Amino acid sequence: MHEFTFKNNELYCETIRVGDIAKRIPTPFYLYSYKTLLDHYRKIRRAFSSIKPLICFSVKSNSNLAVLKALVKNGAGLDIVSGGELYRARLVGASPEKIVYAGVGKKADEIGNAIKFGILFFNVESEEELEEIQRIAHSMKKRVRVGLRINPDVIPKTHDYIVTGKGESKFGLDFETAHKIFNSKRRFPNLDICGVHIHIGSQILTSEPFENAIKKVLSFLNKERIPVKYFNIGGGLGIVYSLENPQTAKSFAKKVLPMLKKSRLKIILEPGRFISGNSGVLVTKVIYTKRTPRKKFIIVDSGMNDLLRPSLYEAYHKIVPVKLAENSSDTSERLDVVGPICETGDFLGKDRFLPQLNRGDLLAVMGAGAYGFTMSSNYNSRPRAAEVMVIGKGFHVVRRHENYRDLTRGEVIPRVLR
Ligand code: LLP
Repeated sequence: MHEFTFKNNELYCETIRVGDIAKRIPTPFYLYSYKTLLDHYRKIRRAFSSIKPLICFSVKSNSNLAVLKALVKNGAGLDIVSGGELYRARLVGASPEKIVYAGVGKKADEIGNAIKFGILFFNVESEEELEEIQRIAHSMKKRVRVGLRINPDVIPKTHDYIVTGKGESKFGLDFETAHKIFNSKRRFPNLDICGVHIHIGSQILTSEPFENAIKKVLSFLNKERIPVKYFNIGGGLGIVYSLENPQTAKSFAKKVLPMLKKSRLKIILEPGRFISGNSGVLVTKVIYTKRTPRKKFIIVDSGMNDLLRPSLYEAYHKIVPVKLAENSSDTSERLDVVGPICETGDFLGKDRFLPQLNRGDLLAVMGAGAYGFTMSSNYNSRPRAAEVMVIGKGFHVVRRHENYRDLTRGEVIPRVLR
């Protein structure tokens, strides 16, 4: 459920007409609903309330400071994957003891800063990384908590690019290596190897792959008598983009809670998309309509630089007109909604059926709150979109549009070229 709904043929975000926001904010812009964000966070918290897990919102899905602040203020922790995300976490006042840090390529300065800040633990993805954290912890005279990210080799049904828990993916440690590390703890005197972590993929619609992965890890811990305190079960819960019928937080919890309770471990969850995905839309404007002998195109003012998911994963995002004409119904004409970028792969939607559209009409690309702005770029030297959040009765620009100066910030023409 989300708070982007039609009333009298007009799209609203909570109680505010999206068309009214677009009168004040030039398109394209991302529009977030605070209420939806919080609702989704609370849904997952409620579903797992019997074990009081730590819920670390996955910053990579939406790292806007207002989004992070809203969640942190309401008790969320954060799952980070870079020094930049740590910087954001600090800016919103996140408690260090609610931060977990994953990623296969953590660099020394990033590790050092996270140790200094006192994060809960690192999710370690290789032996060399473990050695590096040991080296840095030793030089800082600190004892540092780490969890081992295990690649449980399960096959979740999702897009190949977002599977992470299959044996051949770059993430995590195989059971054998993890076992070896647990058996050689003495090699890491400054590390408290107190947790295990899994994250098997993203946009996973059923609970079986999670159940399988959790089962595998718990039986590994039992069999090898490995004493840990934390079990971070990652993120990955799928959401509705079109006709998907994903598990709810409640049904997911029902399936995995018995095992988790029995383990008596402190559980951590890292949902990203589940919280932010349907909390945001991308609002864009029709610049031109164009007909070729083969096809009809609606050319809009945002493209793959703003929302990469359709181009990269052929992801489906529903596209709706912000205002429907009286008695409007979809025409029988198949059309592509495309951006202004000079790439054939620059589309937001292919083979769609939409009502009659004209220049200047507004469209909303739904389900764009996760991996939308965070994956955007300046390709074709296009300034990045603004981000706006509806909170209660008002809306707030939570990131202004970039301008041309932003585009060239940091660039220098060397004297020899002048
Ligand atoms: N934890 C870890 C260690 C992760 O790598 C991720 C996502 C998450 C949690 C959150 O996953 P979520 O709950 O959002 O599924 N760009 C892709 C998704 C990539 C996900 C990367 N890792 C997309 O647009 O579909």
